[in-house]
Amino acid sequence: MIGPLTDRVIVITGASSGIGAATAVECAKAGMDVVLNARRKDRLEAVAERVREHSRRAVMVIGDVAEPGMSNHILNAASSEYGRFDAVFANAGYGAESEMLSFTMDETRKMFEVNFFAAVDLLRDTSMRLIELGSPGHLLMCTSCLARFSLPLHGAYCATKAAQHQICWAMRGELRQHNIHVSSVLPITTTTEFFEVSARNSGREAKQGMVPDHAPKFFTQPPERVARAVVKCLIKPRPEVWTSVTVRMMAGLMTMFPFLADRIGREQMRRA
Ligand SMILES: NC(=O)c1ccc[n+]([C@@H]2O[C@H](COP(=O)([O-])OP(=O)(O)OC[C@H]3O[C@@H](n4cnc5c(N)ncnc54)[C@H](OP(=O)(O)O)[C@@H]3O)[C@@H](O)[C@H]2O)c1
Repeated sequence: MIGPLTDRVIVITGASSGIGAATAVECAKAGMDVVLNARRKDRLEAVAERVREHSRRAVMVIGDVAEPGMSNHILNAASSEYGRFDAVFANAGYGAESEMLSFTMDETRKMFEVNFFAAVDLLRDTSMRLIELGSPGHLLMCTSCLARFSLPLHGAYCATKAAQHQICWAMRGELRQHNIHVSSVLPITTTTEFFEVSARNSGREAKQGMVPDHAPKFFTQPPERVARAVVKCLIKPRPEVWTSVTVRMMAGLMTMFPFLADRIGREQMRRA
């Protein structure tokens, strides 16, 4: 438990758009100061401005999370600007919609570098520093409901998300003794630039319509919904943050009855 959120500091990667940007604003509304990371400076500046509109401070660290030493660089910025950090949200990530036979091993490794290794690096560096300081803290990772079941055409992405989710659970058990909470955030389809980026990564035309036509509309949500759930979890830490009870139940059912997952996979291929 990091206690009341007022004047606490949260580090958010992938804060220039979508879930990360919405979470930065929601955290500011809750009284937190923020450290924002992403590669696009102009977009990050716009988010920092929105944070300041809520009378909170924002520091920007521009750069690729997969660059060696980036997590320490981000944490150094938090320490020098605020003299503290209480929470991190490892959120930077991307996807690709591609069959595994078309998605090269280099592309798969690159995706793991950003989605998985960079996120783990940030959580590890943060916990080591918090332990040294004897401070409590809260580490969150943006995984996905696809950490719990996989879909055709999203194999590499689902694998990165499942790996993130498993690490969260292990670290949660290990860090409890240090009063550090770890939470896995499992959004369902969220209306962000994710799908545009995903299409571009898959060599397809990147439509600005955000969510692809074959995504069931019933299971889509705005990024603000995830952001509010993250703030709720910061106030009252939980192992997992779900934003859809239905999908959570489906994930449980698919574990028990794999043929259901198979049916959904077949339907996904038909729609695609
Ligand atoms: N949208 C969904 O349906 C959905 C569902 C479940 C989980 N998620 C997860 O939610 C997270 C956020 O995605 P989103 O939906 O908000 O999509 P988004 O709008 O495309 O946001 C992705 C963010 O990650 C940043 N990013 C990507 N690669 C980076 C890198 N190498 N270094 C630093 N920053 C990087 C992007 O910023 P720059 O391009 O400026 O660097 C951007 O701020 C991802 O981890 C994604 O897997 C999304």
